[in-house]
Amino acid sequence: MNRFYQKIFASGYDKVMASPEKILFKKRQSLISPLKGKILDVGIGTGVNFQFYHTNTTVIAVEPSTPMIKQAIPKIPHSANIQILNHHINDSALNNIIEANSLDAVICTLVLCTISKPERALQKFKHWLKPDGKLVILEHIHSKKMINAHLQNIINPIWKVVSEGCHLNRNTDTLIKEAGFNMLDEDYFEGGIQWYQGVFNHLN
Ligand SMILES: C[S@@+](CC[C@H](N)C(=O)[O-])C[C@H]1O[C@@H](n2cnc3c(N)ncnc32)[C@H](O)[C@@H]1O
Repeated sequence: MNRFYQKIFASGYDKVMASPEKILFKKRQSLISPLKGKILDVGIGTGVNFQFYHTNTTVIAVEPSTPMIKQAIPKIPHSANIQILNHHINDSALNNIIEANSLDAVICTLVLCTISKPERALQKFKHWLKPDGKLVILEHIHSKKMINAHLQNIINPIWKVVSEGCHLNRNTDTLIKEAGFNMLDEDYFEGGIQWYQGVFNHLN
């Protein structure tokens, strides 16, 4: 049932996201296209970010869902240097693949809402990122408006089931700062739900 639902979720994902992507496309483009060097894209899904990578980048693309990877592979641009790894981000196997202080950027788009231990993942990002490397975030978060936040709390248990573990009410913006990252730039914007984008480093 779980694998069957994973397939359905992956095959319908781009269609369901077509409407929010009208807002998110430009946000992704402005966050991702300036990045260069060695990049980790966390939970690549159907590979929506692939189109924005600069040609001078090497990308480690981590994704636990095989059906999502199947959707993503045809989106790999010819010029791109992308290695797809079929793992959860907290999988210890990644420690043998990604060296400490080796990454120029970590990209999290619409994924910290789903990862089961986001605090642990954030500590891994710190370990893997160069001190001036960038953590780039585009996420939906718990609303700052009381009524909307309350509604998100009510809907969340059902939402988690139909959306493969996605939490509607995660305070991802706060989690990142609590993990010790320095905010370089951030923006809160509305688009049906509360969205958040941010760029961070972990220089002392
Ligand atoms: C909502 S989709 C977002 C996909 C893509 N990042 C985007 O911006 O469209 C969330 C993705 O995160 C993946 N995911 C879930 N748990 C994960 C984990 N622990 N580590 C890495 N990816 C995970 C899911 O399989 C799914 O493909």
